[in-house]
Amino acid sequence: MLAMNYRGPYRIRADRDMPYPEILHPGDAIVKVTRSCICGSDLHLYHGMVPDTRIGTTFGHEFIGTVVETGSEVTRLKTGDNVLVPFNIACGACPFCKQELFGNCHESNPEATAVGGIFGYSHTAGGFNGGQAEYVRVPYADVGPYVIPEWMDMDDAVMLTDVFPTGYQAAEMGGIKMGDTVVVFGAGPIGIMAAKCAWLFGAGRVIVIDHIEYRLEFARQYAQCEAYNFKSLEDPVLFLKKTTDFFGADVCIDAVGCEAAGSALQTITGRKLMLQAGSATALHWAINSVKKGGIVSIVGVYGPTTNMVPIGNVVNKGLTIRANQASVKRLLPRLIDHVQKGHVDPKGLITHRLPLAEVPDAYRIFSSKLDNCIKTVLIP
Ligand SMILES: NC(=O)c1ccc[n+]([C@@H]2O[C@H](COP(=O)([O-])OP(=O)(O)OC[C@H]3O[C@@H](n4cnc5c(N)ncnc54)[C@H](O)[C@@H]3O)[C@@H](O)[C@H]2O)c1
Ligand SMILES: [Zn+2]
Ligand SMILES: [Zn+2]
Repeated sequence: MLAMNYRGPYRIRADRDMPYPEILHPGDAIVKVTRSCICGSDLHLYHGMVPDTRIGTTFGHEFIGTVVETGSEVTRLKTGDNVLVPFNIACGACPFCKQELFGNCHESNPEATAVGGIFGYSHTAGGFNGGQAEYVRVPYADVGPYVIPEWMDMDDAVMLTDVFPTGYQAAEMGGIKMGDTVVVFGAGPIGIMAAKCAWLFGAGRVIVIDHIEYRLEFARQYAQCEAYNFKSLEDPVLFLKKTTDFFGADVCIDAVGCEAAGSALQTITGRKLMLQAGSATALHWAINSVKKGGIVSIVGVYGPTTNMVPIGNVVNKGLTIRANQASVKRLLPRLIDHVQKGHVDPKGLITHRLPLAEVPDAYRIFSSKLDNCIKTVLIP
C-alpha cells in the first residue's frame, strides 16, 4: 500500500510497497484512511528531535477513515463506519484512563512512564505506525474511534483528532477567568486554536506571539486577537509586562515546544548540540511574562530528558504550571457540540490539500513555512 516512509531526519518518501497492516489483537480494527494531517509534532520527528524514531516507520496521528476490518472482540465498531480517531491510543480501563487522562494510558505504550501510545510517534510513544497511509491498524478500537455524525464536515472531523482538542485543552489548563489577559506563544495551528478557545473561557484580551508574519495575520483574522512579531520587539517579556500595567499576563500558553526560535543560547544548546531536549525559549518567555500567582499552560512538546527552565522564577512568583498531551476522547463530546453550534470552525485552519503521494513536498512546505501554510491535509 501507499504510505509515508521515514528514512532519517529531513528524509521521507511516499512508498507504494509498504506492508498492509494486520489485526494483531482481537481488539484491533483496520481503518482505510480518507484524510490525514501533518502536525507541528510531526516536524519534531522529521527534524530528528525525537529519540528512537526508527527508519521505515510511518508518521501520522491525525486521521479519519472507514473501518474495513475488525478483530473478533470489537463490538462498538463495524465495517463501513466512518470514524475519527483520537491521536492518543488508550486502553480505556487502566487507572489513568479511568481518570480520563487518555493521553497517559498505562497500557498502550511499553515505555509508559509518561506519555501513552500515540499513532506514528516513534518507539517512545509505543512504536505504532500512523495514518499518513492508505490503511492503519487501530488498537483498542472500541475505546478511541468515534463514529462521525452524518452532518459533520470531514475536514472538521480530522481537526477533531488533535488540533481543536489540543488548542482547547491549552486554554482549559490555563484556568482562564472572566476578563483575563491570555498570551499564547506560537501561531501555528495549535496556538491559533488556543487563542480562539481562550475566548470561549471568558478571556478579556488575547495576545499571540510568533515571528512569522503570515501566521500572525492568520491568527488576527481567525482568532480575533492581537498578534505581535517577537523579532520586532526588543524584548517580548518586557513588551508583555508593559502592556499589562507591569503585572504580567494572567495566563501564558506555550504552543511552541522544543524547537522554539528567539534565543541563541537555547538554540545552540537545545537544537544544535542537543545538550538539552530542545530549546525552551517560549517556555522561558511564558514563565517570565505571566503575573505572580499566574498559570502557565504547556502543550508544546518537549523531549523526555532535561531542559533548562527558570524554576526559581516559578517558585518565587508562585506560579502554577499545567501541561499534558491533550486528552482527545475526554473533550470530544463538548467540542463536537461547539462545531455543531458553529462556535468554532476547525476546518478554517486548513490551507493546503495534497495527495498522499506528494507527502515529501507537504512536509517541506509545512516545515519551511512556505506558501502561507498553516495546516495541510493529505488525501490517499
Ligand atoms: N500537547 C499536545 O497534545 C499537542 C498536540 C499537538 C501539537 N502539540 C505541540 O504543539 C506545538 C505547536 O504545534 P503546531 O502544529 O502549531 O506547530 P507549528 O510548528 O506549526 O507552530 C509552531 C509555531 O511556533 C513559532 N515559534 C517558534 N519559536 C517561537 C517563540 N520563541 N515564541 C513564539 N512562537 C515561536 C513558529 O514560528 C511556529 O509558527 C508543537 O510543539 C507540537 O508538537 C502538542
Ligand atoms: Zn498533531
Ligand atoms: Zn489506559
